Amino acid sequence: MSTPPKRPRSNLVAIPGNTDSQKNIPRFYGADALQKSIDRMLTEAASRMALGKTLEASRSFNKAAQFAEQLLEVLEDPEERRSMALRVNEYRSRAHALARGRLDLKRSRPYEEHETDDQVYTDEESDALEQQILMLIDDRPRHMDWAAIGGMEELKTELKFHYGLAMAQLPPGIEIEGWQNIMFYGPPGTGKTLLACAIANKLNATFFNVKASQVVSKWVGESARLISTLYRLARKFTREGRPSIVFIDEFDALCKSRNSDGQLHHQQMLASILSEIDGFASKGERNMVMTIGATNRPWDLDTAVLSRFERRVLIDLPDRDAREAIFRIHLDAKGIAVDEDSITYEELADMTADLSGREIARFCKEVTAAMLHEMNPRIPTLVDEGLQAIKDYTIGLRPLTRSDFEPFADVTVPDTTPADALRYARWGRAVNDSEAM
Ligand SMILES: Nc1ncnc2c1ncn2[C@@H]1O[C@H](COP(=O)(O)OP(=O)(O)O)[C@@H](O)[C@H]1O
Ligand SMILES: [Mg+2]
Repeated sequence: MSTPPKRPRSNLVAIPGNTDSQKNIPRFYGADALQKSIDRMLTEAASRMALGKTLEASRSFNKAAQFAEQLLEVLEDPEERRSMALRVNEYRSRAHALARGRLDLKRSRPYEEHETDDQVYTDEESDALEQQILMLIDDRPRHMDWAAIGGMEELKTELKFHYGLAMAQLPPGIEIEGWQNIMFYGPPGTGKTLLACAIANKLNATFFNVKASQVVSKWVGESARLISTLYRLARKFTREGRPSIVFIDEFDALCKSRNSDGQLHHQQMLASILSEIDGFASKGERNMVMTIGATNRPWDLDTAVLSRFERRVLIDLPDRDAREAIFRIHLDAKGIAVDEDSITYEELADMTADLSGREIARFCKEVTAAMLHEMNPRIPTLVDEGLQAIKDYTIGLRPLTRSDFEPFADVTVPDTTPADALRYARWGRAVNDSEAM
């Protein structure tokens, strides 16, 4: 008697309904892609489990649950929907159990006083909060490298030094403080997030990505608890020997006092963050939780904030060399060739004075898209002919020339005017001067 060949799978991914319901899923594109994504996440979870990376495995299950939820939305058959809903729950609870197990594992006591505020909440409430915070952990740093950031060479070295000092061994009896927190300020789209990600990547850190405005509006009335839980988790994760980076984007949103309805929540959240930071300092011990703030509006920061972020780093609009490097990153490094007999990278840099990195990236995207359009006019017809026709087709490309860039250069208006840009530098000088007095 011959048995049918079995799909190789670990017992971890053998979740009830998983393989059975698979064949019932309609084979249109969305469902297919979603099912593949779910499978990929389950495989990833299994291999992470095998490596003992419980937390990472938990996050793979979380993502599987998210994909399954999307798939649930496109399913019509009631039976399939029920089975998919079960799977969503199953993945969620596995994610949850793994994260909990991991967190309970090393429940140690040095930070007890920080944990007392949890005691007024039930376990379920705290779990739900932890779960939400785990969702803030961002994978992006894993794919982010210094080389993908154009320009700022000196700054990159300085940042490496800065965090190197924070992480290195201290000789006995020596105390060095103030390397834990840093504030990036400067015009929008200049690479503040990229830099934070690159640091996290190099330090192999867990990266908590917090956008202040979102968190404040979502956690009305609970921001103090949110922040204490966030930092408690961040500390816990460092017990594996990996640092944690808490990245707080749009930091200025927490300092606004004009907006009267939200004001209280902003203040609560800000006070909690500052007290967490102070808590580390008062312990006098080295810790591997670092806070990186970012803002486009540094002049909104108040002195309470500035005193905790002694290192403030201006991330300015890219200069000519940096613009050239950014063009190379967004064209050449992606395999999109530039015909340098027609236009050089230097000329591209000259063409785009005052543009931010984000605007240059967008510029490259638009020029590339126009070229792709021109080179591949048959794609819509092929799509009409069916999946196989389009899968057999290879996308046509050609090197970009001057006439590709010029039309877009004319219509690209920088977000940040030179006058705005000056304001950042002036602010930096003014705060430094006032603190020196
Ligand atoms: N120095 C740079 N090198 C390469 N790309 C950049 C650079 N600065 C910005 N970009 C592009 O702009 C996007 C937004 O950058 P980001 O770091 O989010 O800006 P910020 O946080 O300062 O607003 C990036 O994803 C990247 O595509
Ligand atoms: Mg950003």
